[in-house]
Amino acid sequence: MNYMPAHSRTARSGVLFDAARRVIPGGVNSTARATWSGWTPYPLFVERGTGSRIEDADGNVYIDYLLGLGPMILGHRPPEVTQAVVDFIENRGTVFALPTADEAVLAEKIVAALPSVEQVRLCNTGTEAVLYATRLARAFTGRHKIVRFEGMYHGFSDAVYWSKHPSLEKAGPDSRPQPVAQGPGMPKGVEANLIILPWNDADALRDVVWTHGHEIAAVLTEPLMCNTGCILPEPGYLEAMRAITAEAGILLIFDEVITGFRLGLAGAQGRLGIKPDLSVFAKGLGGGFPVAAMGGRRDVMSLVDQGRVSMAGTYTANGIAIAAANATLDMLARPGFYENLDAVSDRLRLGLEDVLQDAGLPAHVVGLGPLMQVWFSEKPIRNYREAERHADQALFDRWWRGMLSRGVLFHPGAYENLFVSAAHSAEDVDATLDAARDTAQELLRGA
Ligand SMILES: Cc1ncc(COP(=O)(O)O)c(C=O)c1O
Repeated sequence: MNYMPAHSRTARSGVLFDAARRVIPGGVNSTARATWSGWTPYPLFVERGTGSRIEDADGNVYIDYLLGLGPMILGHRPPEVTQAVVDFIENRGTVFALPTADEAVLAEKIVAALPSVEQVRLCNTGTEAVLYATRLARAFTGRHKIVRFEGMYHGFSDAVYWSKHPSLEKAGPDSRPQPVAQGPGMPKGVEANLIILPWNDADALRDVVWTHGHEIAAVLTEPLMCNTGCILPEPGYLEAMRAITAEAGILLIFDEVITGFRLGLAGAQGRLGIKPDLSVFAKGLGGGFPVAAMGGRRDVMSLVDQGRVSMAGTYTANGIAIAAANATLDMLARPGFYENLDAVSDRLRLGLEDVLQDAGLPAHVVGLGPLMQVWFSEKPIRNYREAERHADQALFDRWWRGMLSRGVLFHPGAYENLFVSAAHSAEDVDATLDAARDTAQELLRGA
């Protein structure tokens, strides 16, 4: 393990950041990589990733639980996926504006994996897939409002980039939150089509469906809340959501951009036993390449079939994406894949829980399979507002810096997750737990 005082051996990242900032606003190409998302004084610049490791521009090597924020479920540069992509480019091309046989091969695999998905359309990103799902729900129901939950993220399109992490002063009462735009630039009036609710609260959903059900096209939710740290659904909550929406003719959309193909081949819906009407997948599907999918009930998808709801895109189902996704799904479908992934992940989650409990820190490790986060909080966290009120962000920041300085990489935001890949070994986890033991002592010393 590489013991490195955080940022004292990352000078080249600092130089590269200064150079980038001159021509790229904020020096990065996504908010999640920005200084204001926790990467202070600057994000690490990456030289390469290999399996479970990342090497930064200064040659420091980290055990990587950031994993590109989720796509690298097979680790970095999985040879099978790389080879499939190289073969496709070298032998066939990249973009044709015409279909290839490989697209239906991929669609068959997705349909076979997910009982709720009878048909599927492919696109490039989770943002696009959510946009398509909500458009389709509106077209199918003839209604306009979408229910979404405070603290979730469904991509950055104008229609849903609201109330991700609003300041509580602006966000209205706990039981009936007001929509809060992510920032300036949203078209005026879009929020009239949104209803924001607290998550893990079936009564709040029941009430709003009772009063506004005839206007609601869809309830859009992550099956686990993965964008305010990791919060699990309370027993019965998703079942209640399924029953309430079905009864009111509202489509239930599962945003499985993070959970899909990660919690099992059938995603969170398979693991938790809930059948949504539409689902959205990205990240894990492509093994590191940009590809996403939106699918579900045949009667809903048939609006696309008839050309009534348009889904377009120059790069949708491009050869690279399809080759990568086909190769990735073949890897994920190998016998024992998820059992092994879960075993390594459980070793980490339970190990971290033990380390933090033994140290007497006010911490809980919450997660399912290869998805988890540490909450520094005296109380369990059920939703976004509880996270805002009870989670100790300053302690998380010290935890993050302590782990980073000991060669363990994850996102600096307490509202992000740690991801485990098939490339992580029990030895990686044990080295991580050693780092956690040291870091916990440092936190106790207040250093
Ligand atoms: C649950 C969820 N939905 C949608 C998105 C957007 O996906 P993309 O970044 O591929 O546009 C994300 C991205 O992190 C996500 O976590």
